[in-house]
Amino acid sequence: MLFQVLSSLLLTLTAGASSAPALLPRVDVPAPFNSSLFKDLNVSRGLNYHYYSVPADKGKPTLLFLHGFPSTSYDWRHQVAFFQDKGYGLLVPDMLGYGGTSKPLDPQLYVSSLVTRDIIDILDAEKIEQAVVVAHDWGSKTASRLANYFPERFLSYAFLAVGYTKPTLFATPFEESLNLSKAVLGYDNHGYWDFFSTEGADQTILEHFDSFWDLFYTNDTTKTITDWSPLGALEAFITNDTRVTPVDYVTPEERAIQMEAIRQGGLAAPLNWYKIVRGTLEGQDDQGIPQENALIHGPVFFGAALRDYISVSAPIYLAGALVSSTSTVTTREYNSGHWVQLAFPEEVNGDLLQWIEGLGLVA
Ligand SMILES: *[C@@H]1O[C@H](CO)[C@@H](O)[C@H](O)[C@H]1NC(C)=O
Ligand SMILES: *[C@@H]1O[C@H](CO)[C@@H](O)[C@H](O)[C@H]1NC(C)=O
Ligand SMILES: *[C@@H]1O[C@H](CO)[C@@H](O)[C@H](O)[C@H]1NC(C)=O
Ligand SMILES: *[C@@H]1O[C@H](CO)[C@@H](O)[C@H](O)[C@H]1NC(C)=O
Ligand SMILES: *[C@@H]1O[C@H](CO)[C@@H](O)[C@H](O)[C@H]1NC(C)=O
Repeated sequence: MLFQVLSSLLLTLTAGASSAPALLPRVDVPAPFNSSLFKDLNVSRGLNYHYYSVPADKGKPTLLFLHGFPSTSYDWRHQVAFFQDKGYGLLVPDMLGYGGTSKPLDPQLYVSSLVTRDIIDILDAEKIEQAVVVAHDWGSKTASRLANYFPERFLSYAFLAVGYTKPTLFATPFEESLNLSKAVLGYDNHGYWDFFSTEGADQTILEHFDSFWDLFYTNDTTKTITDWSPLGALEAFITNDTRVTPVDYVTPEERAIQMEAIRQGGLAAPLNWYKIVRGTLEGQDDQGIPQENALIHGPVFFGAALRDYISVSAPIYLAGALVSSTSTVTTREYNSGHWVQLAFPEEVNGDLLQWIEGLGLVA
């Protein structure tokens, strides 16, 4: 069964965009995605973006889904299945560094002012004047910066697990923010950024990928407090190949598809999402955000993952969500770890639909 799923993955090699030395590997994912609806765009800075595109019925808005680390558009399979038959337009890119999208190795190319321009290029190519953005993990940082740089292009903003990241968030140096998190939470919740930023971390993770994936997708998320987030903990955990029971909401077949997509593209490019915040690149880039857009001007939805102890919702993001927008803010709470859109798909989809319908949008 597993073998059949893997061998049925459509592996297409295409000529790479300017940044990639050789060929871009591509995994075209199975249902609910319709492989004929994937597109590629050479964005204005000459990088390729691979994305899923479903046109909207007349009068319905387009939903833009932005995934985080380490993922591809496949992270949104339950949302795509739910929304694509309801007349909503869908745009679901593989983010920079992932899947069929370019994988440049220079961290400077990952700062938000550049990545948001890429996303706007996709909206332009698809002739979408305004979209609703739904984001998770580092996708939430990009959604935040879309609100900061291109507020006129978005109707409303939904954040899952990771909330609105305000323009000053990455101005605090890493060591200082780590100490701050320890003072507030009792543990340093992002010490693993240090490991992710070291040379060779991509190889170390891939050499111990099952152990890494187990811990990322464990139901006992309290383990992340001891074995994921503190400085040095994750590397120690995976290098002796410690295994823990994975969650039951990702099937072995889905897990194989997810892991294979990451293996094919490697992790050197995706880890740049961390390098820019472990260092100063993102903090400096964010200084270009217009002051008048420091708060979101449109309606906000925040889906809190109450058992996510890395992107900690309860003390940090829930309070932040309430003051993130000059418009209305809707919050929902899920008894979930980080992967809330995979763990509680029916609840998340239903809540998003109700929120979107309640906005009375006509695109
Ligand atoms: C993408 O566009 C740039 C110009 O913006 C061009 O130089 C480059 O060759 C294009 N790349 C591909 C793969 O088409
Ligand atoms: C996939 O999309 C194409 C193009 O819109 C359409 O013709 C085809 O019927 C779709 N396939 C399925 C299984 O929905
Ligand atoms: C962080 O805390 C450690 C241990 O208490 C201390 O040695 C270090 O100076 C602190 N660093 C910063 C930047 O506050
Ligand atoms: C996952 O963890 C939660 C909280 O500890 C618990 O309520 C739930 O039953 C667990 N689910 C499984 C499948 O173990
Ligand atoms: C592997 O490393 C983890 C984390 O440091 C530790 O808790 C565990 O006991 C180690 N296991 C073995 C078999 O050495």
